[in-house]
Amino acid sequence: MQKCRPTLCAGPCEPVPMNRAQTRKVSRIEQVDKTHAAVLSGLHAASFEDPWSAAAIAAMFDVPGLIALLATQRDAPEGFLLARFVAGEAEILSIGVLPAARGSGTGMALLDRLHALVREKTAAPGLLLDVAADNQPALALYEKAGYKQVGRRKAYYRKPNGVFVDSLTMRRDFA
Ligand SMILES: CC(C)(COP(=O)(O)OP(=O)(O)OC[C@H]1O[C@@H](n2cnc3c(N)ncnc32)[C@H](O)[C@@H]1OP(=O)(O)O)[C@@H](O)C(=O)NCCC(=O)NCCS
Repeated sequence: MQKCRPTLCAGPCEPVPMNRAQTRKVSRIEQVDKTHAAVLSGLHAASFEDPWSAAAIAAMFDVPGLIALLATQRDAPEGFLLARFVAGEAEILSIGVLPAARGSGTGMALLDRLHALVREKTAAPGLLLDVAADNQPALALYEKAGYKQVGRRKAYYRKPNGVFVDSLTMRRDFA
């Protein structure tokens, strides 16, 4: 089990197989509500070793400020993003794309939609997230999306094999 807050975007506990697609495809991104908790939970389970149950995700919708995005390809779910806006701050809680769909632009499309929504609907000056320091695909995605490291928590995550990994806090400003 990972040593982290329950809402933290911790990243996978094992390396993710690289699957850089040769061609780009366009995912449909929509904002979804509590009725999609089971779908979001299934996508989360495909990306993380400490899956969030449908009940846990449904409960997240009961707290004001949750933003849930679902990416689909020909109506088939292939990615999700959960974020929250609270007390003037926006934070990414989790993002994941099905292994077979990775490397096709879905992760970036989810971030692009989130950025547009947060700018349009909130007064947040930027977005924050936490990521395991060894999660190279996620770090590459965030850096490409304009996030910069603003903090580091030593040995914050504990992997199933007992190894501790640092957490990096990253921020993207809208200014
Ligand atoms: C991180 C994750 C969401 C990326 O989703 P994705 O749909 O594959 O990402 P994209 O195809 O949109 O990639 C956008 C950019 O991110 C970077 N990137 C993403 N995956 C990468 C990889 N495996 N290797 C190198 N760069 C990568 C690249 O710069 C890429 O741009 P490019 O294709 O022009 O080179 C996906 O790997 C995933 O679900 N991982 C498991 C869950 C996880 O770790 N979530 C993050 C927790 S903090």
